[in-house]
Amino acid sequence: MIRFDERLNTITLHTRSSSYQMKLDSNGVLLHTYYGPRLRGGDLSTLIQKEDRGFSPNPYEAGTDRTYSLDTLPQEYSSNGAGDFRTPSLEVDCADGSHIVDLRYVRHTIREGKYALEGLPAFYTEGGEGQTLEVELLDRYTGLEVTLLYGVMEEYDLITRSVRIRNGGQGAVQLTRVMSVCLDFPAGSPDLITLGGAYGREREPVRMPLTQGVHTAGSVRGTSSHQQNPFMVLCDHDATEDSGCCWGMALVYSGNFLASAEYTQFHETRLTMGINPYRFAWRLEPGEQFVAPEAAMIFSDHGLGQMSRQFHKAIRCNLCRGPWKNSRRPILINNWEATFFHFNADKIVSIAETAGKVGIEMMVMDDGWFGKRDSDFSGLGDWNVNEKKLPGGLAPLAQRINDLGMKFGLWVEPEMVSEDSDLYRAHPDWAFQVPGRPMTRGRSQLVLDLTRQEVREYILENLRTTLKSAHIEYVKWDMNRSLTDVWSARLPANRQGEIYHRYVLGVYEILEAIHREFPDLLIEGCSGGGGRFDCGMLHYTPQIWCSDNTDAMDRLRIQYGTSFCYPCAAVGAHVSATPNCMTHRTTPMHTRGVVAAAGTFGYELDLNEITDEELEEVRRQITHFKTCWDLVLRGDYYRLSNPFAEEPFQAWMHVSPDKDRALVGVVMDKIHANPCRPRLRLKGLDPQADYRVNGTVYGGDQLMYAGLALPVLDEYEAVQYDIEKV
Ligand code: GLA
Repeated sequence: MIRFDERLNTITLHTRSSSYQMKLDSNGVLLHTYYGPRLRGGDLSTLIQKEDRGFSPNPYEAGTDRTYSLDTLPQEYSSNGAGDFRTPSLEVDCADGSHIVDLRYVRHTIREGKYALEGLPAFYTEGGEGQTLEVELLDRYTGLEVTLLYGVMEEYDLITRSVRIRNGGQGAVQLTRVMSVCLDFPAGSPDLITLGGAYGREREPVRMPLTQGVHTAGSVRGTSSHQQNPFMVLCDHDATEDSGCCWGMALVYSGNFLASAEYTQFHETRLTMGINPYRFAWRLEPGEQFVAPEAAMIFSDHGLGQMSRQFHKAIRCNLCRGPWKNSRRPILINNWEATFFHFNADKIVSIAETAGKVGIEMMVMDDGWFGKRDSDFSGLGDWNVNEKKLPGGLAPLAQRINDLGMKFGLWVEPEMVSEDSDLYRAHPDWAFQVPGRPMTRGRSQLVLDLTRQEVREYILENLRTTLKSAHIEYVKWDMNRSLTDVWSARLPANRQGEIYHRYVLGVYEILEAIHREFPDLLIEGCSGGGGRFDCGMLHYTPQIWCSDNTDAMDRLRIQYGTSFCYPCAAVGAHVSATPNCMTHRTTPMHTRGVVAAAGTFGYELDLNEITDEELEEVRRQITHFKTCWDLVLRGDYYRLSNPFAEEPFQAWMHVSPDKDRALVGVVMDKIHANPCRPRLRLKGLDPQADYRVNGTVYGGDQLMYAGLALPVLDEYEAVQYDIEKV
């Protein structure tokens, strides 16, 4: 619900459990006055204490009032160069070379339904649900018009934000920084959580108390990256999984981003999030406009767990699209870790045959099926089938797989080109590189310049041809390097600063076209595992390969961190062979199954090479997953341990929305002699109800307050509990 109070000049956004307020002050400055637990009403600007603070200047209109300063007032969208020395939301090189942006209120509108953003992914509602607030601001001296967009989706406690900037002046301007969101908090001692990591160690939560200065997380790699994720949380210092206030913020964007938390001289906090200003310069001719990616904010006063669950539901139901978003995904087997580049049609069929017999439903053929592609040194860009490996092309192979009663899926990496490819020989300028300067290679490949229309058309045409050439029901869309040598032969010198963002818009344009033309196709995103695991991609691909690291123990950490924002339904997770090809660790087949069952669930090995007992275990896993997939995909997720802390076991659970059923996964992490045996306390059940847990009946209250005594497990052993109300 969005309320404008004419008397108080406040606009208040209410969700089910939160309120968010802004106030139009007497100088036309839009102040941010509150974001927290839901309030009945009131004007929260009365809490702002005005003082004459040294070195905090006063705008002209303030006259002799030295207590009025943009530097100390909480701002809804911070100005630049006019007295607010904290993190700016917007930086502009104006036509006359000046850079001042001082935004004042013009008007606002409130309407039913949530806004959409042309060419950009965004949360959506169906049937006109949700509400939109647009607040128009103006810099009176340059004519720069800034419209703040807010979407309210009450049941998820979700408030989305975006910004539209229009050059209403006489000359061209250059935007060099556009934050999608700016959020000021009153004085306090909060913690900041970001998701750091690396290739194979994606989304490791980093939690720190804020101290004076600016803390940032971001990417300048052209993608959202393995190293930092476009997501952050500000929370009470003592917030836990189940208690305390948490403000989560995710950017619906897949390219360079910047998330920053400034802890000010007065211990107030300013969060901003948007496109990374690194090499960003967007030229706006008079009358032109620029739209920033969407930022999504969720507030919880019941700790981090509740915040995550709200993100999960909102992302799954109102960001992901298509028929697969809430339905059971086929249990797949992928040949990558089984064969790498060395396979042919018979090998793929032999993997599929055994897989089909134990209940696997889809065979995915990974990298190596096209062009000259026997290693990662060549072939990208030439999307013609390698007939030596696959005689007759994709159709006969897909048919053989279909004849086994299985679906057929395919790996592609459309955004890339190998130097050793016909495409590169024909169009070297289609790859990012600066003429006369040696290029920087990544995985021995180059990135196609998706800012160019003919490149996007080439990619789209090839994808279309491939997808129509056989019965392909799934695509794994990969992207295996970071961007360098970012220069486009098609753009003039004064527009080269637009490339990073135009690249992302190009990716979205192609994905959108595929989504429309092949609405039933299931697409799994991927970027060397989880290098582009973000809300932007999830609008087009309802699942994303979470990491190239398939080691079950490492996956516990990766999936734990991922769960802070992203739902299990989005997490591509497979059982692979041991010793694991990345960590060389050996874990039991059962454990690998329990861990992969906390995601989309699939396999990534040659089942012909495992023992009969292991194959029997695989059959059991699949039969079991088919009985509980709905809990994993659509249930509420609870983190029961923290794998980054010294805890003996790791545990998590999925609970059905009606609390009738649950699935608990437990893995023994570290074993020490003569160990302590903490009990496992469950969450999210009905304390008044009784539940059958693997055959024995307990009270919901007992399970949650006293806990379960775990069996004695060896290191890396796992146990799963199926829980049902009696
Ligand atoms: C990336 C992916 C892997 C696999 C390879 C193929 O690394 O993350 O799963 O598809 O590419 O080259």
